[in-house]
Amino acid sequence: MNLAQLHEMAAAGEKIVMLTSYDSTFAKLSEEAGVDILLVGDSLGMVLQGAENTLNVSMHHMTYHTKSVSAGALNTFIMADMSLGSYEHDNEAAYKNAEWLIKSGAHMVKFEGGGSKVKTARYLVERGIPVCAHLGFTPQSVNQLGGYKIQGKTDESAAQIMQDAIAMSEAGVGFILLEMVPAALAKKITETIKTPTIGIGAGVDCSGQVLVVQDLLGIYTGPASKKPSEFKSPRFVRNFLKDTNSVQSAVEAYVKAVKDKTFPALEHSY
Ligand code: KIV
Ligand code: NA
Repeated sequence: MNLAQLHEMAAAGEKIVMLTSYDSTFAKLSEEAGVDILLVGDSLGMVLQGAENTLNVSMHHMTYHTKSVSAGALNTFIMADMSLGSYEHDNEAAYKNAEWLIKSGAHMVKFEGGGSKVKTARYLVERGIPVCAHLGFTPQSVNQLGGYKIQGKTDESAAQIMQDAIAMSEAGVGFILLEMVPAALAKKITETIKTPTIGIGAGVDCSGQVLVVQDLLGIYTGPASKKPSEFKSPRFVRNFLKDTNSVQSAVEAYVKAVKDKTFPALEHSY
């Protein structure tokens, strides 16, 4: 599966299924279950390292896990996150770090934000590195955003996200990921731009969906510093293991639910 084929799929109205992956066992299993894109997300800071957020993830961590995923899934498109601090300062450094992910087995890199990041996206795309722009709630800015909150609720912030999505699309990014935005806004963005969108907490009308694999399995109970009983999973999460009897069939159920548009339902959307 390559980017052109994924774009054809989106153009034909088939939903794109993305799932996070951090190791070769889950990567192979997810490939077998029919996942279209594996995301080596910096969510690994939370789900693997037990941290409260993604701020302390490094490029060493990202490239280590990208190599592991790439070793397990030989036929699946792999997207990898650029860690906090690896792309914001100057474009040459961003290129070097993106190159490191590509050499570790990623087919596309993802980084957070619009605005000044549009130039970075264009810089990488012009040099042959496919980019996914992550807009809406951007976890690396959690301290600026004041917590895990839905974005684009006011007319002004919705217009800003739309504007960033258009600018990123014009810069040539391959996908736009929308996290925690109202379903109506995600729908409008998806209809406005040619670039396919991938949603998490962004409603059913995006071109595709992504989930963190630990959330899909219902096994993430918050950071190591919190008791499981103190943790409430976000609205957009659905436990797919509950109604199946194996990890493999839970991932298959997720793939099917995204493809037939039964996930996300209204109860998972804003
Ligand atoms: O790091 C990650 O897993 C992500 C997804 C939640 C979109 O960026
Ligand atoms: Na991420």
